[in-house]
Parts: sequence; structure tokens; C-alpha cells
Amino acid sequence: APPPMTVKELVDSGAVGSVVPPEYRSRDQDHAAVEVEIPTVDFLLLREGDDRQRRKTIRELGRACEEWGFFMVVNHGVPIGIIDAMLDAARGFFDLPEAEKREYAGNHVLDPIRCGTSFNPAVEDVKYWRDYFKLIVHPVFTSPSKPPGFSEALLGYATCVRKMTMELLRGISEALGLEQHCMERELDLYNGVQLVAGNLYPPCPQPELAMGLPPHSDHGLLTVLLQNGVGGLQVKHGGSWVHVRPAPCSFLVNTGDHMEIFSNGRIKSVLHRAVVNSWATRMSIAVVQGPSLETCVRPTPLLVKGVDRRMFRGMKYRDYVEFQQKNRLEEKSVLDVLR
Ligand code: SIN
Ligand code: FE2
Repeated sequence: APPPMTVKELVDSGAVGSVVPPEYRSRDQDHAAVEVEIPTVDFLLLREGDDRQRRKTIRELGRACEEWGFFMVVNHGVPIGIIDAMLDAARGFFDLPEAEKREYAGNHVLDPIRCGTSFNPAVEDVKYWRDYFKLIVHPVFTSPSKPPGFSEALLGYATCVRKMTMELLRGISEALGLEQHCMERELDLYNGVQLVAGNLYPPCPQPELAMGLPPHSDHGLLTVLLQNGVGGLQVKHGGSWVHVRPAPCSFLVNTGDHMEIFSNGRIKSVLHRAVVNSWATRMSIAVVQGPSLETCVRPTPLLVKGVDRRMFRGMKYRDYVEFQQKNRLEEKSVLDVLR
């Protein structure tokens, strides 16, 4: 079979015109979302604040995780040059000739370099208006060698984001009443998987008919999202979809399935989706921090005590990711398999 056409190819070839091809028409065409203020975490206070500021920030971080599974990080300290270089590199990758990108297609979910289109084409009957690359950059750094400068930008960005994420995870451990290095130790984060996903959402002639990404939760502990200034992310909160406005120079962070498992359900992974628009190309870079592939992730014993029975059985991270990829599962139902 010929490789599936990317959305970019479809749009650039002029094949789309003013209508969305039928295979992209999503079943759920209600993309409405409300706009509300989302929790904000001041990273500078977490890292360098005095005792009182740090404790307050950790409390806010804990509350954001338990009540939303979603927050914005400001004062994160990642240099703007590093961020811009990553966005430029991603754009450069998507602009490579289709034949060159296809060399990086990959065929297994854990291949260190993959790229493609839609969400999970092997199991879906509707296509999504999104092209992507996915790179595993830790514990072993891998990168495509094209376009020039890509791997340098990727390494710089991934290293900075990883440092910030580890600090957030120490804060969340404390907020859960655990020792700050508890998560690091139990989930072998020293060998943890770090996955960098780049997403491209070209302008769509009928954005109300198509979807960028369906509702889903992420595997792993935390996902750090960067956008190119064009919105489109929606998160599920209190039964409604909430539209998230991209604040300049901030990161959006969401909790993943393995945070829910590890915390024995105290922190839920958050459902999110991406909508598209007709006027601008949207790009996002999502960095997933997970445990090591061989770690069997289970609720941490300290949170399975007294009245808190154990909510999930354990599963190796590697098996979880493979299972998720192989099955047509709606929303957060992979987690339900472990209940
Ligand atoms: C994702 O869920 O992985 C990306 C969402 C987005 O592009 O905002
Ligand atoms: Fe996601």
C-alpha cells in the first residue's frame, strides 16, 4: 500500500480546496469550549523561593494536579533562544520533501524515530488533521540527521525541559506527602523515557468538520507542551471542554496515565484534544516524561494505606505503551484495563 498522504502534502498539493475530504470528517462535530482561567505555577518560586514560597508553590502545584491535571508554568527559565530554535527545527523537519520524511516513518511505537500523520491510523476509521514526528531522546538520545541543525536544537530543548520536569516531579512528590525523590527512585527516572513529539496542523478549510486530535490522555507522568502562538488545545475539566489560550513564553503541563497509576488515582490524567482552524498553521511540541521502559508501574505503597485500597494493578511501561498502540480504545480506557 502507498504510504498515507500527510495533511501538509494534501494541502500543499492543492487537492483540498475548500472542502475537507470525507475521511477527515469527525463524528463528534461539537468543538465548543468555554474559556476559564487555568492554574499557574511559578517555577522560579519552586526552584529558588524561600521555604515559605516553596511550600506555597508546592501546595498550588498539588492542587493543580489533583483538581485539573493541567497547569501553566511561568518563569520556567528555559531560554527563549532554545525554544525558538526548537520551533524552527520542527518547522524545518515538516518542510523536508515528503520522500525524505518517509525515511523516518518507522513501524513500531517504540522505534526511536517515527513520523507520520493522523492519530493512530492502524486502528482508526476517521483521519485527524495532523502530521507528527516522535523522537525518543532519553535515556539514549536519537535524532533525525535532517534538516541541518535539527539534532542540536532538539538536544538543547529536551535537556532544558527534562531538568524542569524533574523539578516539577519532585514538587508533586512532596505535594502527595512523599519524600521528594520518591517518584524518581521508584520509577527509575534516571533511565526514564523522554519522548519529543512535534505536531503540525495545517490550515483546514472547514475546521468545524475535522479534528486535529481526538480526546485522549497521554501515557507517562507529565507532558510539557509548547505552541507556536496559535491556540487549539482543549482540556476536559469538570465535564466541559476548556479552551486553553497560549500565553507567550509559558509551557502548558498535563498529567499522564502513569501519574494516575503511581498516585493511586489521587491525581488523574487529563483528557485533551486539539481543534484546527482555517487561518494559520498551528505547531506544538509535546515532551512526555515517562518511567523507564522496564519499570512495572504500580500505585506507590504509601498511597495504598488504610481506607485507600489499591486502584490499579501494575504493568510494565513498555507493555502499556504497546497495548495502547494496538487497541482501538476510547479516551482513557487503557487505564481501565488495569483497574
Ligand atoms: C498532544 O496532545 O499530544 C498535542 C496537543 C496539542 O497539539 O495541543
Ligand atoms: Fe496528548
